[in-house]
Amino acid sequence: DKGGWSSFMAKEVSEQPDAVANTLRGRIVDGVVVIPELAEFGDEALARIRRIVIIACGTAAYAGQVAKYAIEKWAKVPVDVELSHEFRYRDPVIENDTLVVSISQSGETMDTLMAVKYAREAGAVAISICNTQGATIPRESNAVIYTHAGPEVAVASTKAFVAQIAALYLFALHLARVRGTLGSAELLEHTAELQAIPEKIATTLLQGDAVRQLATWMTDSRAVLFLGRHVGFPIALEGALKLKELAYIHAEGFAAGELKHGPIALIEPGQPVFVVVPSPRGSAHLHPKVVSNIQEIRARGARVIVIAEQGDAAVLPFADTVIHIPLAAPLFEPLLAVVPLQLFAMELATAKGLDVDQPRNLAKSVTVE
Ligand code: BG6
Repeated sequence: DKGGWSSFMAKEVSEQPDAVANTLRGRIVDGVVVIPELAEFGDEALARIRRIVIIACGTAAYAGQVAKYAIEKWAKVPVDVELSHEFRYRDPVIENDTLVVSISQSGETMDTLMAVKYAREAGAVAISICNTQGATIPRESNAVIYTHAGPEVAVASTKAFVAQIAALYLFALHLARVRGTLGSAELLEHTAELQAIPEKIATTLLQGDAVRQLATWMTDSRAVLFLGRHVGFPIALEGALKLKELAYIHAEGFAAGELKHGPIALIEPGQPVFVVVPSPRGSAHLHPKVVSNIQEIRARGARVIVIAEQGDAAVLPFADTVIHIPLAAPLFEPLLAVVPLQLFAMELATAKGLDVDQPRNLAKSVTVE
């Protein structure tokens, strides 16, 4: 039931505040993250972990890429993020102090399932982040942290993605506490930031009309580029994936720092480029670098659409369109910045008369390798 929405995707995008709130519910007690699902490991075992390998496919892999920044910063454990099918078939080094974290909305993606089985046979402990109760991947794992996004029907993942990041951030904060890598004041601060996210996503969703207008003049675009830096990089990749999946437009995401190492050659007059801009307050060292990237592409005629923090005046002179997101600490910006990119892909596909829930050639759950 679409509940009055034009598509399941429109409904699911709108449900993102609840997807995050429900994933946090019961897991924060007096401002402290508590994950009973991890109790069986014991805190000492989690404290001994030397390396984390995150395995997933598609949008779930981008959630993993976002979480890498938070886990390394907060819990000080090295994190590799790998596509399940690449991990499984390259003889990866797995040791018994390696923790494998799989991410899967369906819990049935065959590539990820095979990678989890492989890792466990090689002696790793496996935790599953999953949105589907009792699915195969959680059953094959040592423990599961369920996301509570509710059933996701549209093929393109949206609310599951933000719920995955929320669950991974809970995990990162839990890990930081048991490993003693963050003090209690910092733990409380980050946990409070996480709890504020549902309301900020709701505010971001109010940009829907601005995004729809943008989509209407872009229906003839042949290619769209997405730039992002730090946690904005996986969001650029996700924005590009959504556009490919839904609107069948060639789209590529790049790390903004790579611009001068190649992608800038693609910039010609009229080329649309989305830029996810880090906060000028929270990322004072990165913000000017990304603004300078914007100037470089603008000087070559790019049509620049900027996703920037409310009040970021530095981007205004160089942007053709600015989409604002609420203020958040840098690691939390992905949960907001992804929303206009999801909406954009959905609106552009809709403007082209395409089926946003069932894009051609794609399946919601890929149960073959
Ligand atoms: C793809 C879906 O086939 O599988 C994507 O189209 C999804 O939306 C990916 O991100 C991974 O699926 P899952 O269920 O393992 O998260």
